[in-house]
Amino acid sequence: MVKDKGIEKKEMLYEGKAKQVYVTEDASKVIVYFKDDATAFNGKKKSQIEGKGKVNNHLSSLIYTYLEGKGVKTHFIQRLSDREMLVKAVTIIPLEIIVRNVAAGSMTRQLGVKEGTVLKKPIVEYSLKKDELGDPFVNEDHIIALEWATEEELNKIRSEALTINKLLIELFSKAGLKLIDFKLEFGVNKDGVLLADEISPDTCRLWETRTGRVMDKDRFRKDMGQVSEHYEEVLERVSKVLAV
Ligand code: C5P
Repeated sequence: MVKDKGIEKKEMLYEGKAKQVYVTEDASKVIVYFKDDATAFNGKKKSQIEGKGKVNNHLSSLIYTYLEGKGVKTHFIQRLSDREMLVKAVTIIPLEIIVRNVAAGSMTRQLGVKEGTVLKKPIVEYSLKKDELGDPFVNEDHIIALEWATEEELNKIRSEALTINKLLIELFSKAGLKLIDFKLEFGVNKDGVLLADEISPDTCRLWETRTGRVMDKDRFRKDMGQVSEHYEEVLERVSKVLAV
């Protein structure tokens, strides 16, 4: 992989549960380092998934390049190495944007909807990124009234999230995978709102279309085994689709 000329990791700016962010000599760019650390249930379950960082970096790079090609503005600049990605520096909007196509996970627990129920239309949910509070649900009024995003930014986020959903459903379905739900994060820089963070089996629920086999982080959450192998299979399948 060719390094962006002159770009080197400097001091660490931030460490999250699965990634570290490093300053570079260019204030408009940062390097994201993908770790193998895995957490679930708001950090209560902790372990490592061997090779996960490499897979998530590679897969996110492929997906962000695909989305950029379809007109979605993202923070992605370049994959620098197995575990490093160069991205545009943004101020992260402190929200998790969740898009659901099929009921699973917290939706089944909170609303009593049967897992696997196909939703009549996609649902966009918002939660506040705040571990101490367990990432609580918030609505559009909270977001604007508490100034986590402006109304204009929120409209953009919602329409981008739905566009990304359509594009990802199409991509994953070509890879024989059904996109159940996923989480996005957005950031702001001088050019406006950009898709940030990552898109990977850590942040999406993906079921094999033919069999319903779980191919995502639920394998870790529910101790289903062969977690790395399934992450690698998702990468292989998506790589094949994007190579043609
Ligand atoms: O847990 P829940 O069912 O609300 O998750 C919905 C989707 O968002 C899942 O694909 C999950 O992996 C993702 N998610 C995430 N990070 C979180 C919470 C949810 O990537 N902190």
